[in-house]
Amino acid sequence: MEITVKSGAAEKQRTACLVCAVFEEAALPAATAAIDEASGGHISTLLKHGDLKGEVGQSLMLYDVPGVNAPRVLLLGAGKKADFNAKTLRKLAEAAFNTLKKSGAADALICFGDLGASEDDETRHLYTAALAMHNAHYRFTLHSADKKSPADKLKKIVFSISGRATKAVTGAMERAAAVSAGMCLTRDLGNLAPNICNPEYLAEQAKTLAKEYKSIKTTVLDERRMKTLGMGSLLAVAQGSEQPPRLIAMEYTGAAKSRKPVVLVGKGVTFDSGGISIKPSASMDEMKYDMCGAASVFGVMRAVAELGLPLNVVGIVPSVENMPSGTATRPGDVVTSLSGKTIEVLNTDAEGRLILCDALSYAEKYKPEAVIDIATLTGACIVALGHHTAGVMGNDDALIGELREAGDKALDPCWQLPMGDEYKDQLKSNFADMANIGTPGAGTITAACFLSNFTEDYRWAHLDIAGVAWKSGAAKGATGRPVPLLMEYLFAQAG
Ligand code: BES
Ligand code: MN
Ligand code: ZN
Repeated sequence: MEITVKSGAAEKQRTACLVCAVFEEAALPAATAAIDEASGGHISTLLKHGDLKGEVGQSLMLYDVPGVNAPRVLLLGAGKKADFNAKTLRKLAEAAFNTLKKSGAADALICFGDLGASEDDETRHLYTAALAMHNAHYRFTLHSADKKSPADKLKKIVFSISGRATKAVTGAMERAAAVSAGMCLTRDLGNLAPNICNPEYLAEQAKTLAKEYKSIKTTVLDERRMKTLGMGSLLAVAQGSEQPPRLIAMEYTGAAKSRKPVVLVGKGVTFDSGGISIKPSASMDEMKYDMCGAASVFGVMRAVAELGLPLNVVGIVPSVENMPSGTATRPGDVVTSLSGKTIEVLNTDAEGRLILCDALSYAEKYKPEAVIDIATLTGACIVALGHHTAGVMGNDDALIGELREAGDKALDPCWQLPMGDEYKDQLKSNFADMANIGTPGAGTITAACFLSNFTEDYRWAHLDIAGVAWKSGAAKGATGRPVPLLMEYLFAQAG
């Protein structure tokens, strides 16, 4: 689906559907008022009848409105004018898409431009709305025989803008398209079945990205190479599975070689059964999404390369399958990580940190500007923050602040949890340098504390995305988060 912009009077444009907004108990937004006037007050009369109150979520499709070229006008409730914000705009864009895909319209002209311009500028609004519409268009079809969708006939969305299509405006549209393409890749990988999306499959994806983009170079370490390097912790998780592990490195070069890269490390457990500390069977299928940290790294690499951002970015994905078997790691086993530190594995279901620690030590070789790991690391994070907000921790408050700001701006928020020494003490082991689980309480924090033992040489932040990467229930599937947050952070870095 193509999304573009156009300036000029909306009521005069040729389009299958004009989409505009109506506030609750307030004057019409400028674009809607112009259409109302062209129609000789058709819309205001209709509002007086009380068919549309303007509440968020309400919509009304009108046909053959006098004085308007388009055969359809879709009115959307935008809520109270004083409450209008970027989140409302995102809801409007989603509502517009969902109504349009059920109509017969092949294209539409969206006239949201002047809504709430006081809070944010039009360019930002366009980015938000375009990204929301691209994302609403996503459907997972990789396992379907019939890949056709009712939304297919909706070919083109045009945003009506008040001024001229400046570089900033077209740039925002390009960014929205690239970020959504990245998110689609993230969602596809997260949704793929775990018998297909295994560590080798992810490695192939990384090689495909390197073929598509000259700016990306992919290296894949196999089991033998990891053994030689001494990644005993990662290999201990992999040893229970028939699927061999992979450590994938994707290097994107968009700036001078001398510029230090931002390194993203994504947890790539393609299925987490828990291992010998096996999980209960209810919803165990959902543990295919335990590679969504990795999937978000793939999504970001694609978006960054597509846009050619003037930055260097490295994506590292440690990938394994966590299975119980006669060769699996036992509770009580002690393993030696790449850093040389030893770990007592008290629970084989705390496997994410065991693969991340070796990947984080490996990241040192890039002399990074900053390292951000992204992981569906703890169920405790869902208890603490639910499915709305990711957890963020780390060893650098400025970096954490930048991520928090990026998340708020991108409507993909994260929230900082504390990381004092008291929590680190919860990981003490009688038999090794540390245990892989903490004493009861603060499971999200003790997991981050575990990782902090391997990130002493650089600025580091950890995003726990267990709650935000996935939706359960009727809309079960990957969300593509936190790609918008990470891209916003990288946009800020690119300047
Ligand atoms: N992948 C899980 C965390 C998870 C749970 C993500 C639910 C999404 C939804 C992780 O490997 C895990 O099993 N963590 C354990 C840690 C515990 C054994 C200390 C957990 O959260 O229960
Ligand atoms: Mn686990
Ligand atoms: Zn896991």
